[in-house]
Amino acid sequence: MNITKTTPFQGQKPGTSGLRKTVETFTQPNYLENFVQAIFDCVPELRGSLLIVGGDGRYYNDVAIQIILRMAAANGVARVLVGQGGILSTPAVSAIIRKNDAAGGIILSASHNPGGPKGDFGIKFNSANGGPAPESVTNAIYARTQIIESYKAVSSDTVDLSKRGESRMSGMKIEIIDSVADYQELMESLFDFTAISKLFISGMTFCFDAMHAVTGPYAKAIFGKLGVPDASIINAVPLPDFGGGHPDPNPIYAKELFERMFSKDGPDFGAASDGDGDRNIVLGRGLYVSPSDSLAIISANAHLVPGYSAGIKGVARSMPTSRAADLVAERLGVPAFETPTGWKFFGNLLDDGQITLCGEESAGASSDHIREKDGLWAVLMWLNIVAARGKPVTEIVREHWQDYGRNYYSRHDYEEVETAKAESVMQRLRDQLEELPGKVFGEEIISAAESFTYRDPVDRFVSENQGLMVKFKSGSRFALRLSGTGTVGATLRLYLEKYEPANGKLDADLQKTLNPIADIANTITGLKRLTDRSDPSTIS
Ligand code: G1P
Ligand code: ZN
Repeated sequence: MNITKTTPFQGQKPGTSGLRKTVETFTQPNYLENFVQAIFDCVPELRGSLLIVGGDGRYYNDVAIQIILRMAAANGVARVLVGQGGILSTPAVSAIIRKNDAAGGIILSASHNPGGPKGDFGIKFNSANGGPAPESVTNAIYARTQIIESYKAVSSDTVDLSKRGESRMSGMKIEIIDSVADYQELMESLFDFTAISKLFISGMTFCFDAMHAVTGPYAKAIFGKLGVPDASIINAVPLPDFGGGHPDPNPIYAKELFERMFSKDGPDFGAASDGDGDRNIVLGRGLYVSPSDSLAIISANAHLVPGYSAGIKGVARSMPTSRAADLVAERLGVPAFETPTGWKFFGNLLDDGQITLCGEESAGASSDHIREKDGLWAVLMWLNIVAARGKPVTEIVREHWQDYGRNYYSRHDYEEVETAKAESVMQRLRDQLEELPGKVFGEEIISAAESFTYRDPVDRFVSENQGLMVKFKSGSRFALRLSGTGTVGATLRLYLEKYEPANGKLDADLQKTLNPIADIANTITGLKRLTDRSDPSTIS
């Protein structure tokens, strides 16, 4: 075993979802090694245990896996399961950790961020429950990176990741496993594959965009089994640079899918996932289902799906996600939780059996089957609901609004803003929080303004400064927070919501409906002026 001397790097603090930096940063000598050693130092349970390793196939995935294997062997890990070709989607890692009682998993991904030598890379540690390590652990890992002096690795030949099979590295057992099998088995246990395949037999048209990212092989295997022709799965081959695009399922990067879905003779059902397979979007012909609505509709219909036929225990959503799911929970008589942004906050609620479903406005939804958000699970959930209700996506969404009212919702992102400017916008709003309640802006009266603090109902851990929120008496609101996943400058996210009751106007233009709220947010925060931006960089 070799012990290599090293010195700390600034800024190895895991963000919303692991440590995410540019490839250039990650490939500096010792950068990845320091962080990986900090994981082994802070999670002693890995010694003598099983570790799962895989990633979304982006540039540097294969090199990073070889480094991690040599370090795992030196740090006393007994056995490692690695996805064939280094490929494992984020939800698959979660499923494999749980199925095999592993002590944890290392996921290599920067999710929807671009890849390639000039793109981004990322690393995330997931705990024995299959979910992202909680803040207590990520904080400890960060603290460790700030005092690290050396790391351990064995000398070894490169492991051939392309073939399934077993080998040894200095006493540690390495198994290269099928990337899809365990995950597919789990999906088949939750959904009515026979009912879904009948949809395709009876001619329902479908398009899934894998965005040249990790879900390609999963989608081909699972949708293939359901009878979906290969041609309906586009961009199915994972590429190290995702074919040059961002593997982010939105109208800009999933352009081909959106064009097909909004064309006159477009498919009945469309969907896409992101770089590492944890996000999803679902579309009906001519209709994009907002992820906040998707969580609500899944919650309202879950009992129709075999894996959830006993009903749901509760539902959780991140603070900026619209409150559509809360309305469903209220009607079902189950609790609704509001957590900070980031999947790690759902873990305790799921482990404790307080919720069955959870989701975020950022195209993430999942259930207690794993401890990550799950892109293909959400698509299968929708397909199963369409099969059970015998109605297309568009009709299911409209009927939901007619039943519960509509939470008009949109997120405006201001990307690559100078960090100091972005912070000054946040500070300006923070400074006004106390005096805002009661103030009148046009037709809106402010009822509350606060900095979101979350006390975990299970372990009582308190997470402060999780975004700023301004609520109006009308039920509308906006929230503002800084992204914790960007790698260049700062990204300000402005979240807008307006509730329209079931007897109100349910088919109005989304942005026009939300413009008055956006204008108030801008007036209060000085967002556009302080960042020198006239418009958001991305609207979703
Ligand atoms: C973003 C999303 C958040 C999600 C995270 C990881 O984080 O907003 O909901 O959990 O990516 O996929 P942010 O950049 O806002 O910190
Ligand atoms: Zn992702």
